[in-house]
Parts: sequence; structure tokens; C-alpha cells
Amino acid sequence: MVYDKETAMTTDRKPYQRIMRVCEGLPVDSTPVWFMRQAGRYMAEYRQLRERYSLLELCRTPELAAEVTLQPIKRFDLDAAIIFADILLPLEALGVPFHFAKGEGPVLEKPIREPGDIDRLKVADAEERLDFVYQAIELVRGRLELDVALIGFAGAPFTVASYMIEGGHSRHFVKTKLFMYEQPEAWDSLMTKLSDVTLRYLLRQAKAGAQLIQLFDSWVGILGRHDYLQYVMPHSARILEGLRQSGIPTVHFGTGTGSMLDLIKRAGGTVIGVDWRVDLSDAWGLLGAKTVLQGNLDPVVLLGSADGVRQAVLRILEQTRDRAHIFNLGHGILPETPVENIDTAIEQVRRWADGNRGR
Ligand code: CP3
Repeated sequence: MVYDKETAMTTDRKPYQRIMRVCEGLPVDSTPVWFMRQAGRYMAEYRQLRERYSLLELCRTPELAAEVTLQPIKRFDLDAAIIFADILLPLEALGVPFHFAKGEGPVLEKPIREPGDIDRLKVADAEERLDFVYQAIELVRGRLELDVALIGFAGAPFTVASYMIEGGHSRHFVKTKLFMYEQPEAWDSLMTKLSDVTLRYLLRQAKAGAQLIQLFDSWVGILGRHDYLQYVMPHSARILEGLRQSGIPTVHFGTGTGSMLDLIKRAGGTVIGVDWRVDLSDAWGLLGAKTVLQGNLDPVVLLGSADGVRQAVLRILEQTRDRAHIFNLGHGILPETPVENIDTAIEQVRRWADGNRGR
């Protein structure tokens, strides 16, 4: 097979990397595998760098972001790298500063409280102020082996808006929901601005070398179906449709989305990401057997025994059979995860592929 570096395709115009092949419905020799938050505190290499640099310094320095992105690729047999960044980085470009407080997560200095705050967002050319992300993508793509795909990402408008309104992480999303219900026009304006900037940001990531884009709507499962349809879906759909029109495959991911998976799929996405609360067989039953699914190992399983990991991975693979599937967790790797369990999980994916070749 001969590979064309410019297009990430073989010379007969077929994608080369396993993940990209699955996105196009082509056969693969093994289920592709990567992990959300595969670069992070569970790795000693990452903790070492974090002693010298803050999280935001790592994100904003292309050379460091590239190094962190590649750490799990050097250590494990993974099918994709995900660019090291954070879904909150665009906030600063919009004129909404934030920092990460120790043990507390993100803290916004001036959360959105009234419609005037939305009018003041610096939307014009916001994506130009995220140039360090595109530079990191270019560095990583140049250093990756050709069989490893590079994933770009952004937060979906609802999840990002929730941080902007709550001012940080939230349990019940009271401020976000009340803003949505009580000030629907301001909400629509905020979501429209976020989706415009996000689409332009993601198109730039793709231009720099990201081959697949994941849209993280991590907290959207907090909404009922009606609210998702009315307040969120059109905005996520506009981003996913814009990427589709540019020929860029996407993963549409959320957690707690079991009761709205059909709507998540209707909003768009080449691949639908599901968490562990959903049974993959049920999801295929609901969405159709041709749907490409990503997931859905419970990250907590990776804190347990090697045997437990093998069994849980196998249980997922046995549901996939000849279906199009990208192996991943249902949410990000937890910082307490022993690295050996990541090896064990990947080994199990590869061993299963060997046992099922020619299926
Ligand atoms: O997956 C990867 O390896 C790429 C890196 C990545 C980070 N953030 C770096 C990061 C990705 C994909 C994200 C996405 C992100 N960021 C999401 C969506 C995914 C999800 O987990 O639902 C969200 C909600 C955020 C916002 C965010 N960033 C929070 C709430 C926190 C604090 C909580 C925590 O885990 O500490 C972060 C910090 C953050 N972003 C870390 C990393 C590796 C923590 C590590 C550190 O402090 O060094």
C-alpha cells in the first residue's frame, strides 16, 4: 500500500489509518483504539512536565503541546493522537479570561450574567487568536507515524456555554438552565456566536492537519429531550454540517445521552460517542446497524484488576462483531489509572482482532 502524505490516503484514494477507514465504512484488520484524555496526569511523563509548566502553559506552547500529545503515542499501541488542548481555550480568545484553580477545575473571572455580556464577546476573528493550537497540530502531524491518525476537537456550544454561565464546573447547571429558559433570545445569541467561532476554529484545525474532529458535548445529558431539541440541537448541527460539507469526519460525543441518542445522531456526526451507561447493542438497535459508534468502557474499570479489564473489554468487543466501532472509554481516563491497565486493554483489543480476522 502506498501512502500520500498530503491527503492521508493510499494512492488508490482509500484512507490509510484504521480510524479513518472505519469512518468511511471500510474494512480494518483490528478495531481502532484511542482513549479520551490519553495524555494526562496518570502518566509519569506528563506529571514531570506539569512540575515545570501550568496546564495553560502546556496548551499555549506548541512545542510542549506537541510533546504531551505524543507521550501516549510513544508509550502505547494507539491508533490516534488527540491534540493536547482544552475545550475552554476559545474563551480567552472571546475575551472571557479563566484559570485552573488547584483541585477545583476551571474558574472564570467574569461569568456571563446578562445579555450585555454576550454583546461584548470578541467574536470577530476569534479563531485567529488560537494560532498556537494550529501550530501544535502541524508539529504533531509531522512527527506522527503515518498509520496514526490525528484528532482535533472543541467543546460543543452547550457544554462551553455552561462553563461561561456557571463560571466553572457545576452539578445541577441551575444558572445555565435558568438563563436558557428565562432569556431565550440572549441564549440563542450566545449559542449562535459560539457555534460560528467553533466551526471556524475546527476548520482551521483540519487545515493544519487534524483528520478527524471530536465535538465534546460532555454535559448535554443533563437536558431533557425537549430542551435539547429547542435550545441546543440546531447549534451543534450547524457545526457538524459545516464540517461535513468540508469533507471532515466527526465524532459527536456526550455523556448521559442514553435517552437522547437519536437526537444526538440527528444533530450530526460521522461517529456517535456513547458512555458506559448505554449498551452498544441497544444503541445500534436504536440508531441503525450502519451507525459508527465510539466507546464505551467505564473509566473506573481501568482502576481495577487486569482480569477485570480484559473481561470488560471483551464484553464490549463481543457486542460489536462486524459493526463499525472505535474502541474508547465512555469518558476520560481518570488520573489514578495504572498505565499497565491501558496496555492490557489495548492488548485485548488486538488479541480479539487476531482471533476474529476474516470475520
Ligand atoms: O484527551 C486528551 O488527551 C486531550 C486533552 C484534553 C484536555 N481537556 C486537557 C486537560 C481534552 C480532550 C480536554 C477536553 C475537556 N476539557 C473537556 C471535555 C472532555 C470531558 O472530559 O468531558 C472538558 C469538560 C474540559 C474542561 C476541563 N479541563 C476541566 C473541567 C478540567 C479540570 C478537571 C480535571 O480533570 O482536572 C480541565 C483540566 C484539564 N484539561 C486537564 C487536562 C489533561 C487536567 C490535567 C492537569 O491539570 O494537568
